[in-house]
Order: sequence, then structure tokens, then C-alpha cells
Amino acid sequence: NQGGFLSVVVLGASGDLAKKKTFPALFNLFKQGFIPTGDVQIIGYARSKLTNDELRKRIAGNLKPGKNALQDGQAVISEFLKLITYVAGAYDSKEGFMELEKAIASRENVGDGGSSSTRRLFYLALPPSVYPLVSKMVHAHCMNKHGWTRVIVEKPFGKDLASSEELSGQLGELFTEDQLYRIDHYLGKEIVQNLLVMRFANRFFIPLWNRDNIANVQIVFKEDFGTEGRGGYFDEYGIIRDIIQNHLLQVLCLVAMEKPVSVSPEHIRDEKVKVLKAVQPIKDEDVVIGQYEGYKDDEGVPNDSNTPTFATVIVHINNERWDGVPFIIKAGKALDSRKAEIRVQFKDVPGDIFKCKKQGRNEFVMRLQPSEAMYMKLTVKRPGLDMAGTQSELDLSYRERYQDIVIPEAYERLLLDTIRGDQQHFVRRDELRAAWEIFTPLLHRIDCGEFKCLNYASGGRGPPESDDLISRAGYVRTHGYVWKPPTLQ
Ligand code: BG6
Repeated sequence: NQGGFLSVVVLGASGDLAKKKTFPALFNLFKQGFIPTGDVQIIGYARSKLTNDELRKRIAGNLKPGKNALQDGQAVISEFLKLITYVAGAYDSKEGFMELEKAIASRENVGDGGSSSTRRLFYLALPPSVYPLVSKMVHAHCMNKHGWTRVIVEKPFGKDLASSEELSGQLGELFTEDQLYRIDHYLGKEIVQNLLVMRFANRFFIPLWNRDNIANVQIVFKEDFGTEGRGGYFDEYGIIRDIIQNHLLQVLCLVAMEKPVSVSPEHIRDEKVKVLKAVQPIKDEDVVIGQYEGYKDDEGVPNDSNTPTFATVIVHINNERWDGVPFIIKAGKALDSRKAEIRVQFKDVPGDIFKCKKQGRNEFVMRLQPSEAMYMKLTVKRPGLDMAGTQSELDLSYRERYQDIVIPEAYERLLLDTIRGDQQHFVRRDELRAAWEIFTPLLHRIDCGEFKCLNYASGGRGPPESDDLISRAGYVRTHGYVWKPPTLQ
């Protein structure tokens, strides 16, 4: 208990995000002892009229005791559920938020023997349209007078530069930047968090990580399922706003940034902003957008929708390190597989005496999911009497190397960071602005139908024009080599 009694308030407690992500993440922290009983309460707030038990029942189905539990099975789940209470109220109701304040304060034990300071964390698991309203209510009625108040907000942070800035302005009038935690759950993924350590703590990479050696960088996100009932929501946003402008651009920053002065959150975020500011305006010939056949059959998707479910965008960073190196960002739904990875492709070996070019280029791949791994694809002598080359890899597969470690869920880690006050893995306001500046002109052209989606078959690689664009950008595909994650007995 550092800093006093903790109240976690989940606004939008009856919704999908809370059920699937927020409560399970809190549960994972609880079962590992990070939020001990006696020091914490969790309060759900939403419009539905529910009793405490009804909310607990809704949540219980998504809680898994797992390997890291301090105790076994159901006992730990029911201990956790006991921490949760519920307050029903509208998002614009003064009475509702006064009720919420009463519920928070009644269990805070201010001055009750122990520490007199308290901590309040508000998690906005809500549609962005109600952020400003709810934030006003929290600010007017529920601020902590005996310690910190922190607010976690989820994307989408607006739909373009202007709407995002408007939202930032509204939130900025109520909360200071150090009270606001803009979550991008990709920053909570294990391999993404490893990028900084891997790049700046290893001599191997330091001399190679630049335009002299790297031919191109790919940052790829694929899902092998479509919008599946979420189409009504998705259609308002599309894959660039849903995945690229936030998740993949954050990853790009960590791949491309200079070494920060220190690992302090501000130093790291300063470097990320510098990368975003060096990104050149996106040209039409560097973009392919697509929509899978059948997308319009999803509920809520209009028949004339031009919303991309797939996009490949080549990003150019105009600085000394990256001038001339294309960053190929690709994301799509309803494709042939599910994976997210960063693929750094090196240039050909100069003066190749082995005629290895047809064997493939060196690549350093960071597999975010599934099967977290980092591997270096390289050419070696094929074992045997012949002096022939073959493709192989140095492979750090987490499942094999870290068998006893359960990799934490992104949300779990980010919630703990918020409780600890570490903003390193959260998006700063100027970073958000710079990210929207890059994509807003393209998004507007797509929205008004000036830039059209190509069709692609569900379950495939996306529009063939995307592969053409990627090879024009200089990526050389290695044929006949497939990395396989290890299978354990
Ligand atoms: C979300 C998007 O932010 O990320 C979803 O809104 C997407 O469309 C999801 O499916 C992917 O997250 P993950 O962690 O499964 O890669």
C-alpha cells in the first residue's frame, strides 16, 4: 500500500470493453497481489439498472484463475468480486455522480487509523462522444481531495486532427497532462516494450540501425476475421484510424526514434514526437486501401461504404538516420492469418562471393503476436558436404526460452503503470496531435470518396496492388523460407 487506499472507478462498467479487458486486467493484478484486499475498492458506473451481484455475474465469466494465482480456483475469483460494487446513473446526471462520490468516499477510510492519503483512478470505458460530459462530471463531483486523481481514456481520440484537438482541449481544461493516461494497448505488449531495451542495450544493433544498412522496415498487423457485428462502429473509423494511426504508428516511433536522454517517460516521449514530426506528407502513390468482399453485409455498414478494412501505407522519415528507408505499414482484417510483427530488412551484402542474393536478405523480425519471438533470419552453410548456402535463423522464442513466465496482458500492465504513475507507455498530447497531422489529409480524401478502396477476397493477402507497392518500395520477399514457432511437448 504505497500512497493509500485505492479506488478504481470503471465508467461504462456494463459495456464490452470493461467486461473483456478492464475487469479481467484488474483481476490479474489482484491475483498476483498488486492490489490487495483491504487497500482497494472497485466501483462500476453505468446507465443500466444492475445490482452489485448482477454486475459481478457479468464480469465473472471472463476471469481466469490462471497459473499466477496466489490461491487456486474459484476462491480468488470470489475474493476479487467482493471488491466490486455498482452505482447506476446517467452520464450527464449530477445526482448520479454525487451518488458515485458518496460510494467512493464511504470506503476510503480517510484518517481511519492508517494513511490519510487516498488514490482515485477513473477508467473511461465509454464511447468517446460522452468523454467530455463524463469528464466534467468527474471533475465537478468526484475529484480526490486527499491524494491523486488519474483518468484513463481509450481511443478513438477524435476522428481527425480538428476533432482530436477539440477533445484534447476539453479534457485539458479539466485535467492536467499528468492526470491523463491515453491508453494505446499496443504499448503494453511485451515485445513492444522490449524494443527500447533491445535497441539501446545491445551493441549488435547500434551500428546497423540506420539507412546505411537497412533497406526497409515493415510493420504489419493482420487479422483472419472481419468486423463480425462491429461493422456499424468500425465503418465510422476504418482500419487507418482503428489500427494504423495509433497502434502501428506508436510501434514505428519506437523502431525509429533516437536514443532518449534517459528512460524517463518525458525523455522517451520527446524522442517519439521528433520521429512523428520528421514524417513526410503521405503521397497517393504510397497508399493502397482495400475493403474485403462481404464487409457490407455486416450489420450497420452502408451499401456505399468506402471505409477501408485494409491499408498499406509507405511512410518516409526525413532525418539523418532514415532518409530513403521506406517504413511499410500494413494492416488488414479478414486476411489469411492473424499476426503482428516488425520486420527489419537489411540491404544486400556488397561484393557477394557466394551469390547469396537469391537466398534472401538478412531480416530481424520481432513477432508481437501470436507466439512472441525475436529472430534473425540469416544465410548459413547448409550442413553437409556441399558448400551451399541456406536460410536459417537465430531464434529467441519466448514460449521456449521463458517457459515459467506468464506474459502479462497489455491492459494489466498499463493499469499497473497508471496506479504507479508511470506515463512512459501512454500517449502524450503533442504525440497524439503529431500522429493525426500525418494521416488527416489522407483520411479526409478517403472519407469524401476521392480515394477509393479496392476489393479483396476474404481470407487472402489483401489486394494484389499492395504486394506490388511493397515490392516497388524495395522489399524483397524470400521464397521457400518460413519461420516456425517452436512447439513444446
Ligand atoms: C483494437 C481495434 O484497438 O485492437 C480492434 O479496435 C482490433 O479492431 C484490436 O481487433 C487488436 O488488438 P490485439 O491486441 O488483438 O492485436
